[in-house]
Amino acid sequence: MQYRILGKTGLKVSVLGFGCGAVGGLLVRGDHQTMVRAVEYAIEHGINYFDTARIYGDGKSETNLGLVLEELRTDVLVGTKVRLTAMNMQNIAQAIIDSVEGSLTRLRRDQIDLIQLHDRIWRCRQPEQGVVGINDIEPVVDIFQSLAEQGKVRFWGINGLGETQALHQVLSISDIHTIQTCYNLINPTAGMQVPQDFPFQDHQQLIDISAQNQVGVIAIRILAGGALSGTTRRHPVADASVSPIASGLHYEEDVQHSKKFGPIVEAGYANNMVEAAIRFSISKAEISTALVGVSSLEQLEQAVAYANKGPLSTDAISRLHDIWAGVAQ
Ligand SMILES: NC(=O)c1ccc[n+]([C@@H]2O[C@H](COP(=O)([O-])OP(=O)(O)OC[C@H]3O[C@@H](n4cnc5c(N)ncnc54)[C@H](OP(=O)(O)O)[C@@H]3O)[C@@H](O)[C@H]2O)c1
Repeated sequence: MQYRILGKTGLKVSVLGFGCGAVGGLLVRGDHQTMVRAVEYAIEHGINYFDTARIYGDGKSETNLGLVLEELRTDVLVGTKVRLTAMNMQNIAQAIIDSVEGSLTRLRRDQIDLIQLHDRIWRCRQPEQGVVGINDIEPVVDIFQSLAEQGKVRFWGINGLGETQALHQVLSISDIHTIQTCYNLINPTAGMQVPQDFPFQDHQQLIDISAQNQVGVIAIRILAGGALSGTTRRHPVADASVSPIASGLHYEEDVQHSKKFGPIVEAGYANNMVEAAIRFSISKAEISTALVGVSSLEQLEQAVAYANKGPLSTDAISRLHDIWAGVAQ
């Protein structure tokens, strides 16, 4: 397993991170023994960053991760998230403190390595849409900072989802340690220049700008929630329906779109689309860790094997640019 530095945190993180979200769902709906085996397998193979959130399975992901890590008597880096809602935006400080206390209890820890604001960021706050504004970030960072002084968290970050300009502005004005960015073959705009008329949200090199500011980058949705596997069939443990992030309107649309990348496999740059997608995500050197969500131990084993093959070749990346140019036409 390759390791990279997570921006200004200085933490050394595995290039493949374990996504404990509800989409893959293993840490939410899996059976306990499979969860234990998967987490153990991940650690044995060098994965040292586990990403969860209070809302994944309404606390189940944190609870299961806490139980499994305690059972394995092992120490890894754990990141979780706090989501502000229309209900609690009136008192951001209390909302964050309560959420962090709940996470600490569920995770069975005294300290969270990385606390992240889960909300999308727009120019102005839109409570009814669960969106925070640029002006909310400073107060949020202040509270994260005071929780760090109390030893409850070590580092803090934001979610790189929302309005592109707002996200760029936050990076230039706020003292944040990490950002989660959506980066995959369907929408690579956070780390690749694409032609005009590209059909999806343009994140305008959010990854590069983050890295320039020494903000550690955590890539999410590297398999577009599973769509890049090329099938609409979902694993029984997985979320039955997935809402795309920064790609097509529907999951089925993303599955169709994924077929456009077939030439990468046909040309022998990767053995299948999942391998191509995972290796594509880690080809971006500015990404510290790329999270994969899994429904089974087998999926995790494959993800580890693919990540260990390393980045895609420069020839493959230049072939991808041709495909993105075709998509933009
Ligand atoms: N900050 C945020 O707002 C945010 C948003 C999304 C995700 N995340 C984080 O990123 C993590 C990963 O994201 P995600 O789970 O949403 O999406 P993802 O990693 O892009 O996709 C996960 C899906 O990919 C499929 N898959 C995984 N390995 C496979 C394999 N070897 N072969 C075939 N298919 C495979 C599975 O689909 P099937 O189950 O159908 O087989 C799985 O459900 C999350 O767990 C979470 O930690 C954060």
